[in-house]
Amino acid sequence: MNQSVVILGRQPALGLAELESLYGAPALHRVSAQVALLDVDPVSINFDRLGGTVKLAKLLTRLNNTSWQSVVRYIAKTIPDHLQYIPEGKIRLGFNVYGLDASVAEINRSALEVKKAIKKAGRSVRVVPNTTPDLNSAQTLHNQLTGPTGLEFIVAKDGTGVLLAQVTNVQDINAYAARDQARPKRDARVGMLPPKLAQIIVNLAATDTGTVLDPFCGTGVVLQEALLDGHNAYGSDLEPRMIDYSRTNLDWLAKKYTLSGTVALEEGDATDHQWSKPFDVVAGETYLGRPFSAEPTAEILGQVRRDVDTIHRKFLKNLARQTQPGFRACLAVPAWITKNGILHLPTLDSLEDLGYTRMSFVHAGNTDLVYYRPGQVVGRELVVLIRK
Ligand SMILES: C[S@@+](CC[C@H](N)C(=O)[O-])C[C@H]1O[C@@H](n2cnc3c(N)ncnc32)[C@H](O)[C@@H]1O
Repeated sequence: MNQSVVILGRQPALGLAELESLYGAPALHRVSAQVALLDVDPVSINFDRLGGTVKLAKLLTRLNNTSWQSVVRYIAKTIPDHLQYIPEGKIRLGFNVYGLDASVAEINRSALEVKKAIKKAGRSVRVVPNTTPDLNSAQTLHNQLTGPTGLEFIVAKDGTGVLLAQVTNVQDINAYAARDQARPKRDARVGMLPPKLAQIIVNLAATDTGTVLDPFCGTGVVLQEALLDGHNAYGSDLEPRMIDYSRTNLDWLAKKYTLSGTVALEEGDATDHQWSKPFDVVAGETYLGRPFSAEPTAEILGQVRRDVDTIHRKFLKNLARQTQPGFRACLAVPAWITKNGILHLPTLDSLEDLGYTRMSFVHAGNTDLVYYRPGQVVGRELVVLIRK
């Protein structure tokens, strides 16, 4: 069976939890900070639906040596045998190096060595130069390195050896930007949930296709990603305006993509709403409270945290009343990034009393599942709950 090598995103724990949720902990092996090995053939991975993985590659071989020079010699020696599988035309060549002792200048020099070997075998080739040890998604995309005449290698140190892999997929940054910025209705006040994070939330909640309920649906980013993932989308929100926004955005989505799922939207306060339709899982970003551009006083933060906590506690009680044991939810709840550390929602300490067990992951610590950008005060903590 082919194995996959994955390059994880900026916060690797999020990508690891997502892969573990989809493929199971035993199939996943951490290689280094950014790299993991997955016992799944890359062709059977629906890559566009992963939010936390930046690149996917097919494992070609393992080498029992961590010297960059010997890896390059190996590639230069073996590459002529593989060129027959690459269609006619100019080959584009790229390298990503993780954990090896090789400077950017050395990587670029080595790429020229490999280029020489390819030319000697009668094929023309252009090297995509490195400015860092790995190529970013834009370089891979713009140079079509995952296309039929692209050849992008991953060389990753794995203990006393090296994994050599060929990149098969890269995250489509243009498609993400289009799904984010081109939506007709956006609202800075309710926050801008990045579609990638919404994908992770959906993947942590739902392992089978079904109806995904977002009880704080806002402008509908989670519902959008759930629909693109083949689920039915069911959203509710306290504010009628948000229901209109979600409807407009999901109508827009249906014109751009072929969707198989249904859409249902209704107004409702998540703390006491009786959902009118059945649903299989809950996935959503809850109410995050007041946005802050700088850390507020401890008093203000304490008040906001208490108010937001009350809403969450009531919501979780209400949800528990309407679901059965085993029911699963993934929520992005607020966590406040302060100079003294991260402040969590107090309710997370009494989930058992509310009727839930918080799922933990083998490959990602729960404390690492807080998504935030440098400088942000309000982060989002991903919590996966199972109804007891
Ligand atoms: C952080 S926003 C979610 C944004 C959403 N992920 C999106 O794609 O736009 C939180 C949403 O919760 C809604 N909200 C706040 N309190 C609520 C409550 N008690 N019940 C239901 N919705 C609530 C707000 O109107 C807001 O739309």
